[in-house]
Amino acid sequence: MSSRISELRLEKVSRSFGGVPALDGFDLTIKGGEFVALLGPSGCGKSTALNCLAGLLPLSGGSIWLDDKRIDTVPPEQRGFGMVFQNYALFPHMSVRGNIAFGLRMARVGKAEAQRRVDEALSLVQLVDHAEKFPGQLSGGQQQRVAIARAIVLEPSLVLMDEPLSNLDAKLRLEMRTEIKRIHQTLGLTTVYVTHDQEEALSLADRLVLLRDGRVQQIGAPEDVYTEPANRFVAGFMGYRNELELPVTSVADKSVVLGDLNGTRREDLGQVAVAAIRPEDFTVGDGPNAMEVDVEVVEYQGREQAVQARTASGEQLHLRAVARLAPGDRVTVSVPPERVLVFAADSPAAPEKVA
Ligand SMILES: Nc1ncnc2c1ncn2[C@@H]1O[C@H](COP(=O)(O)OP(=O)(O)O)[C@@H](O)[C@H]1O
Ligand SMILES: [Mg+2]
Repeated sequence: MSSRISELRLEKVSRSFGGVPALDGFDLTIKGGEFVALLGPSGCGKSTALNCLAGLLPLSGGSIWLDDKRIDTVPPEQRGFGMVFQNYALFPHMSVRGNIAFGLRMARVGKAEAQRRVDEALSLVQLVDHAEKFPGQLSGGQQQRVAIARAIVLEPSLVLMDEPLSNLDAKLRLEMRTEIKRIHQTLGLTTVYVTHDQEEALSLADRLVLLRDGRVQQIGAPEDVYTEPANRFVAGFMGYRNELELPVTSVADKSVVLGDLNGTRREDLGQVAVAAIRPEDFTVGDGPNAMEVDVEVVEYQGREQAVQARTASGEQLHLRAVARLAPGDRVTVSVPPERVLVFAADSPAAPEKVA
């Protein structure tokens, strides 16, 4: 059960509900020890994919392979995977120790060995002092640590986590994120992690899988998806918050001019296109693509300010500025053409609100 895997393969995995596909031809190969995040807006099929992996949902099509063994027909309890859910799902009548030991008891691990492993897991999630408490006596963060300990104590070949931090407040969420990273660095368990939070996915995962309407949009390392989003949807989801719709003036291979904005073409374009730009890629001051903007709203955020401004043609822009700006200021901002990603105007955009 506690064997390490070298590869987990999903081949054209599909799942429909009442004839409507929730997951459509999902191909993914996960290497042993890898941390993969499934990312996308609510309803894109993340939980469906995870539940198919866990065996909680039968597939409508395709297959799942653990090394050379086909596992999509194996019942969930025989897959030996560890699961962590958003709502912790702890046994309320059992102590922390009892919750963590439960799986070991089921697996008929000897008493001394079980105690040693529970103690190890308790120390790993920093709950040694809370071992005899019941879930009702713990904070949300502590409960989630118990759920994580319970999932990893069996050293499963695969750990599946479905939005494990969504119920925690912002500060705890950050703390637990680091915690999950530390545990993964310590144990190296193969992990598939579902989230709608791009920051969480970027900071935790070795690779991201972007889903939209049950279909893969992009698979890549965090820095690739962040700097080279495959399409407008991924760009919108990865924080390319400014979208300017402009007429195409000229195209020369990857270089494109929209109005008089120089950008980099990411796909075939019609007569009108969309330039996607991250707020942090603008610089206040003269430079490439210089434009004058009127500052409208300034939010203090410590070292930087989040600024909303308007261009001469009336487009709203989000930027970030180190220089202190104030509403009413007229400033020049610039952005390098390689950070202006140009997509076809009729390409699907990311939803405004992702959660
Ligand atoms: N048990 C179910 N019955 C019917 N439709 C479902 C069920 N589970 C999920 N769906 C649908 O499948 C799609 C994907 O859902 P889900 O995988 O839960 O998305 P996510 O986890 O990304 O928010 C959604 O359109 C959702 O309404
Ligand atoms: Mg979900």
